[in-house]
Amino acid sequence: MDRYCVFGNPIAHSKSPDIHAAFAAQTGQQLSYERRLAPLDGFAAAVQDFIAEGGKGANVTVPFKLEAVKVAQALTIRARAAGAVNTLHFTDEGIIGDNTDGVGLVADIVRNAGVPITGKRVLLLGAGGAARGVVLPILEYRPAQLVIANRTVATAEALVEQFAALGGEGVVSACGYAEIQGAYDIIINATSASLSAELPPVPASVFAPEALALDMMYGAQPTVFLQFAAQHGARLRDGLGMLVEQAAEAFSLWRGVQPETAAVLKALREQL
Ligand code: ATR
Repeated sequence: MDRYCVFGNPIAHSKSPDIHAAFAAQTGQQLSYERRLAPLDGFAAAVQDFIAEGGKGANVTVPFKLEAVKVAQALTIRARAAGAVNTLHFTDEGIIGDNTDGVGLVADIVRNAGVPITGKRVLLLGAGGAARGVVLPILEYRPAQLVIANRTVATAEALVEQFAALGGEGVVSACGYAEIQGAYDIIINATSASLSAELPPVPASVFAPEALALDMMYGAQPTVFLQFAAQHGARLRDGLGMLVEQAAEAFSLWRGVQPETAAVLKALREQL
């Protein structure tokens, strides 16, 4: 049976084994998928051990997504753009590093939430690793505007410099929270503020009528950002759909079969 795993530290909480087991059952694929706790100073060795045991691929989560770039012998364009790897594929040609987080996010927005990105005004909050990973997949949908707002404006400006040429004239721009102008159709919280129950200081005026507010975090309760967005009339989406969609993309890369995600997402939601 082909073996896969997810590397992280900590890893006990990971839902990935449940998601991939559901995809395997649904598509009739024979595979196993386990959690692997890699030591903080032993990620590369843990990957080599898993390959030696016959592993075919792996997901990578906190805190190893940057190190996984170095472990990979070749990177996909989206992994290179993200500067991070969440999916490894162990092939005869070597270790391929990919990043499915960004496509997972846009699939959740466009397919699951039914909200088009093309021609829309998008506000991305944050400019760290999570934000960087979604810029290219968002731009591939040709938004009218992509504004990246960050507490440290220079980090957002660096992202604009990296991606401006892909967005078209004036489409991508950066600013601080106090300088955010106008209203947006899609507002994505890619900051880590929700982890400490903090709200990125966005003006309430950012929510256009019928706006979609998405937080990459998820949990039993809505994050403070989603609570704030709800008070201002936005539709809400947490990061659970993104989690399932990034897994579906990894599964399809490894197995050549695209799984259905709706039932898997629903089952996970019921377990929160
Ligand atoms: P991740 O991989 O989750 O993106 P990261 O690379 O450390 O983690 O980035 C964290 C992001 O959350 C950054 O954009 C950070 O803003 P700064 O670049 O100004 O540090 C943002 N962030 C964290 N806590 C925040 C808070 N309380 N309010 C606003 N932004 C916050």
